[in-house]
Amino acid sequence: MGYGTWGKKYESNIALIDSQHQILFNIINNLFDAMKFGKGDEVIGEILNELISYTDYHFNAEENLMKENQYVNLDSHLKAHKEFVQKVLFFYQRYITGESALSIDIIDFLKNWLISHILTMDLEFTKTIKADTN
Ligand code: FEO
Repeated sequence: MGYGTWGKKYESNIALIDSQHQILFNIINNLFDAMKFGKGDEVIGEILNELISYTDYHFNAEENLMKENQYVNLDSHLKAHKEFVQKVLFFYQRYITGESALSIDIIDFLKNWLISHILTMDLEFTKTIKADTN
């Protein structure tokens, strides 16, 4: 449990994707901070919103690269992205309607999903993309 720390093991051969992944780590770490320091609903809601919109932006960038490069496992990667977006939206909806609080466990889930996805599906696809796609 705790912050996600960017490291070499997450690096691909595509600087654009790596920089976007680092931004996602930062957003999730900001959520941890907001919880840890007891920030109000408005701040947490804004960070969750940022996570939703940046995830959408990042997934689109990756999906375009995969399509341009006719990546063979595009469908399963798209499915994983879609499932994650649905999860985050689910947590967000429950949070803004007051149905359920955001917990450290939920933020941990988001961080762990990101780490696992980068290390498996993202690195698998970036290996197949030309290194000069930056
Ligand atoms: Fe970097 Fe497939 O998300």
